[in-house]
Amino acid sequence: MRKKIVAGNWKMNKSLPEALELVGAIKTLSYSNEVQLIVVPPFLYAKTLVDELSGTQVSVGVQNCAKQEKGAFTGEVSASMIQSVGVDYVIIGHSERRAYFSENNQDLALKVDLALANHLTPIYCCGEIIEERNSGNYFEVVKSQISEGIFHLSATQIQKCIIAYEPVWAIGTGVTATPEQAQEMHQFIRNLLKEKYGEADASSISILYGGSCNPQNAKELFALPDVDGGLIGGASLVAEDFIAIANSF
Ligand code: 13P
Repeated sequence: MRKKIVAGNWKMNKSLPEALELVGAIKTLSYSNEVQLIVVPPFLYAKTLVDELSGTQVSVGVQNCAKQEKGAFTGEVSASMIQSVGVDYVIIGHSERRAYFSENNQDLALKVDLALANHLTPIYCCGEIIEERNSGNYFEVVKSQISEGIFHLSATQIQKCIIAYEPVWAIGTGVTATPEQAQEMHQFIRNLLKEKYGEADASSISILYGGSCNPQNAKELFALPDVDGGLIGGASLVAEDFIAIANSF
């Protein structure tokens, strides 16, 4: 049975008081204990939220990590630092990192290695831009992102990863992938995993959908055979919406 996961990527939103208010509200709401809930705040609040959420089922992730182990890299935060404050997850290769910070699959492969070496679970993101969808080569794009970013991992390592498919044209646009589009790509990704690692490993890896997922459409998306949960942006900033999504399995 694959893990059901709902992760809230807050991106560059919320002050510290607002962050505390949001997790305070999340703590008061109930959801199935079969769902792994993850909040992914900006680095600055990660340790505070780890403390705030200790003793609950909610885990904390961060949105990025350095591709270097340590040293003179001003402004960067290493995987070992992240692990040292009690964070469990790290988003790697979000399309905003790829687009605005020029991160490529080779950089991301290094980050995935450092995350795993430091006992963090990578949430590895992939997804095509609108031009790639319209030109029909979106499978090729996602295949390169997956094979260049994570296919150097051993079977034991890949099982420790989460994959998130986020079509870039669906992020923050209100245009969600249709259930057919989501299932088609998730199945494609699972088949890539099958070809590389075999059926058993492929079927144990959670693949999340992200892109304008909200309490209205989550149920339909989460019911798809290869969709194991969501990576949520905007709707994760409102406690009631985030928990309503977690209750959509
Ligand atoms: P939205 O849910 O705001 O579309 O963002 C999705 C996303 O990028 C999560 O990482």
